[in-house]
Amino acid sequence: MCGIVGAVAQRNIVPVLVEGLRRLEYRGYDSCGVAVMHRGELRRARSVSRVSALDAEVHDSHLDGTCGIAHTRWATHGAPVTANAHPILSRDGIALVHNGIIENYEALREMLRAKGYEFVSQTDTEVIAHLVHSLYRGDLFETVCDAMKQLHGAYAIAVLHGDQPHTVVGARQGSPLVVGVGNGENYLASDALALTGSTDRFAFLEEGDVVEITPESVKIVDREGLHVEREVRVVEAYGGAVELGPYRHFMQKEIFEQPRAITDTIAQANRFDPQLFGAGAANALSEIDSVLIIGCGTSCYAGLTAKYWLESVAKIPTQVEIASEYRYRESVPNPKSLVLVISQSGETADTLAALKHAQSLGHTHTLAICNVATSAIMRLTELSFLTHAGTEIGVASTKAFTTQLVSLFMLAVTLGKLRGHVEATQEAVFLAQLRHLPFALNSVLALEPQIIAWAEEFSRKDHALFLGRGLHYPIALEGALKLKEISYIHAEAYPAGELKHGPLALVTEAMPVVTVAPNDTLLEKLKSNMQEVRARGGELYVFADADTRIVNEAGIHVIRMPEHYGLLSPILHVAPLQLLAYHTACARGTDVDKPRNLAKSVTVE
Ligand code: F6R
Repeated sequence: MCGIVGAVAQRNIVPVLVEGLRRLEYRGYDSCGVAVMHRGELRRARSVSRVSALDAEVHDSHLDGTCGIAHTRWATHGAPVTANAHPILSRDGIALVHNGIIENYEALREMLRAKGYEFVSQTDTEVIAHLVHSLYRGDLFETVCDAMKQLHGAYAIAVLHGDQPHTVVGARQGSPLVVGVGNGENYLASDALALTGSTDRFAFLEEGDVVEITPESVKIVDREGLHVEREVRVVEAYGGAVELGPYRHFMQKEIFEQPRAITDTIAQANRFDPQLFGAGAANALSEIDSVLIIGCGTSCYAGLTAKYWLESVAKIPTQVEIASEYRYRESVPNPKSLVLVISQSGETADTLAALKHAQSLGHTHTLAICNVATSAIMRLTELSFLTHAGTEIGVASTKAFTTQLVSLFMLAVTLGKLRGHVEATQEAVFLAQLRHLPFALNSVLALEPQIIAWAEEFSRKDHALFLGRGLHYPIALEGALKLKEISYIHAEAYPAGELKHGPLALVTEAMPVVTVAPNDTLLEKLKSNMQEVRARGGELYVFADADTRIVNEAGIHVIRMPEHYGLLSPILHVAPLQLLAYHTACARGTDVDKPRNLAKSVTVE
C-alpha cells in the first residue's frame, strides 16, 4: 500500500527520502515520487517505475533540498500513471502526499472547481492539495487543521508550502503516521521502518493528530486542536529485516525464519496463564461465554484454524468473520463474547473498522493478536498478544501466520484451563509439544528439494485444487491462497467431503489436487475422497504423515511428513504448502515478494 516519508534538516535530505521509499517498497506500489524545497523553489520528480529509477532520476537532475516529502503510491483513484503519482501539487508551491481514501472527494472537487481550481489528475489527493491552498492564510499548520474538518475518510498526509521552506506538516485520520525524532532534523513516515538508519526515536501519532516538523521542533495538536505531547519511544532497529542474506526472496527467508519466530513467540509462556494476554486478562477471560474472531485473508484463516482449537480444547463456542463482511452486516451482539482481532500489521482498514464496529455494538472484551506492538489495533483493544515474527517483508504472509497459530493455540489452552477442561498433566504435554514445534518444523522445511520437483510440474498448470478436512481445511485454504497470490495459478480449496457436491466436476487429468493428509481421526474419510479424485483421473499430490500408509503409486505423488503432530499439526502442514507456492512462483518467474495488484498492509477498505 501507499507509503509516506517526510524530512526536514540542515542538510540535503533527498537520500533520506529515497532510502525511506526503498524500505517501504515491500508494501507494494505502482508509482513513486519526491518533492523538495530547493533554495525557495519547489522541485519534484516522479516515476511509474521502481524507486531505483526515481533515485537515478533525482541523481541525474541534481535534485536536492533540506525539506521534502516522498511517496510510494498503490493506485486507488486513477490509473498508475505519472500524472497521478504523488507528490501532487497545488498553487504557490504546495506539494502533498497522501495515503488512504477521501470519501467526499467528488463534492470537494466540485466546490473547488467552482472556485477556479483546475484538476490535472484523477486522484482524490488533488482535492486535499487545492483545499489546503484555498484555506491558506499564512500558517500551513493551522490550514491543515482546518482542512481536516472538511475531509471524510481514512487518510494520512504530509504537505509542504513554498512560503514555509523549512516545515513539513502531517496529519493522520485512520491511516498510520509516525514522527521520527533526530538531532537537528526531524522526519515523518507512514511506517517507522522507513526511517531505520536515520533515527530510532519515534512518536506515534493518534487519530486526528496534526503535526508540524521543522529541523528543531515537533509540534502536535490533537483532534480538538489542543497541544499534546506524544511519548517518544526508542524502537529497536528493524535492520536485519531488510537484509536478504543467503535467500533469493524475502518470502523464502521468512518461511525459513519460522522456527525462530515461533521460538520467540512462545518464549513468554512457561505456563498457559491469562496474563500472557494482558494485565486484565484473568478477569476478562473468565467473564466470556464465546469468541468472535475477525480478520482478513491469511489472518482470517488463522482464525478458522483456531475455531477448531477453541471449541475442542476450551469447549467455547467460536465464530469466525471476515472483517469486511462483519463491519457492514447486521449482527446480534453478545456482550459476553470475546472479540478477537487477528492482524499481522495491526493497520488493516477492514479489521480496524470491524473492531470499532464491535465496540460500538457494546463489545467490551476485545483481544488483538498482532505482529506490530505500536499498531492501531494493539492500541484499541482491552487485551493483546504480540507475535514475535519480526518484520514481514514478503507480501504473502508466512511467518506471521504460523506465529498467529501458536498464539491462538496458547489462547485455546489458557481458556481450556480457566474453564476446567485442561488438567495440569495435559497442560504440560501441550507445553512440551509447543516447545518441540520449532525442531519439528525444521525437519519439514528440509523437504524443500522434493517440493521444488513438484513445483516444476505445478508451474505448467493453470488450476489446482486443495483438499483438507477438519483442522486442516483452513490450511488447504491458506495453501490455495499462497499459490494463487504469488504464482497467479487459479487455486481453490475445499473441505474434502464437499468434493462430490460440485467441485468434482472440475477434476480431470489436467487438475492437480493437493491433499493435506495428517494421520488424524478423519484420515480414512480423506482417503475415500482421494479415491473419488483418482477415479476421475485427477493427479493427487499428497502431504502425508509418516504413519498414514498412503504410498506413491500411479496418479498419487506423496511427500512424507514426520509423525503426526496432534492438534499442532496444521502448523507443520502449512510449511510445505508455502514452499510449494514459493517454488512454483519462482519457476514461473513472477515477482514473488511483490505480486501484481497486491500490497502489504491494506490500509484502504
Ligand atoms: C496473504 C496475506 C493477506 C493478509 C491480509 C490481512 O498472504 O498476507 O491475506 O493476511 O491482508 O493482513 P493483516 O494480517 O496485516 O491484517
